[in-house]
Amino acid sequence: MANFQFIAEKERVLYHHHVLLITTGSVASIKAPLIVAELLQYQNVKVEVVATKESLAFYDRADVVKAGGRVWTDEDEWSGSYKIGDPILHIEMRKWADIVLVAPCSANTLSKIAHGLCDNLATSLLRALAPTTPTYIFPAMNTLMYEHPLTTEHVRIVREVVRYQIVGPIGKNLACGDVGLGAMTEWSDIVKIVVDQMKLTRKDDNRQYLYARRGLFETTSDYSKLSHLGLSI
Ligand SMILES: Cc1cc2nc3c(=O)[nH]c(=O)nc-3n(C[C@H](O)[C@H](O)[C@H](O)COP(=O)(O)O)c2cc1C
Repeated sequence: MANFQFIAEKERVLYHHHVLLITTGSVASIKAPLIVAELLQYQNVKVEVVATKESLAFYDRADVVKAGGRVWTDEDEWSGSYKIGDPILHIEMRKWADIVLVAPCSANTLSKIAHGLCDNLATSLLRALAPTTPTYIFPAMNTLMYEHPLTTEHVRIVREVVRYQIVGPIGKNLACGDVGLGAMTEWSDIVKIVVDQMKLTRKDDNRQYLYARRGLFETTSDYSKLSHLGLSI
């Protein structure tokens, strides 16, 4: 998105719900395109994604774009020289957001939030967020990382001091081979939290979405089959 200026006032759409998804360096970031695609099956929803550098190892930003969202990174925040009066991306994005999801939240980003660090677009945005903006954290990490006493303390601070909602993690077979607590809450349950919080209504016809979702799972980015079926997204 380099060279594109994001200005909250222009990007916000009347009577719409503006969902900001932050992805971090956990394998569970692979679910980001699915979360975006599902959210956009509801009426009057706009989705923007802010990705840490590491999270982009786990999904193709083109899949988010195909699902109808956009991906923003540190390069967009620091894309050129700055002049007084220029929009500042992390400020514009926090003005834009009605709800923020950090899904997945890595141990590293959880620690940064707990300590107030803001050294990238994602954490700068979170530090600048109005406390009234509903913010949900979905931790995802190896079981021992999650059971580490520092993580316990970070979770406590984020819940009690920063006052974000922490949901999960859940127990299952983890990508690293361990079995136990540490997996991100199911992506469909994350969407449900937004649907319930914003009281969203589903669009009528979801046929195209079902094909698109299958495409995301099986071929990651091959939507050409849709045209054979006379469908487009
Ligand atoms: C293949 C791979 C998978 C990883 N999975 C996780 C994970 O699930 N949870 C986690 O907290 N860190 C995980 N990490 C480590 C993070 O990516 C690393 O701490 C990184 O600095 C996080 O940066 P971020 O919080 O800015 O995204 C993983 C690293 C690799 C190489």
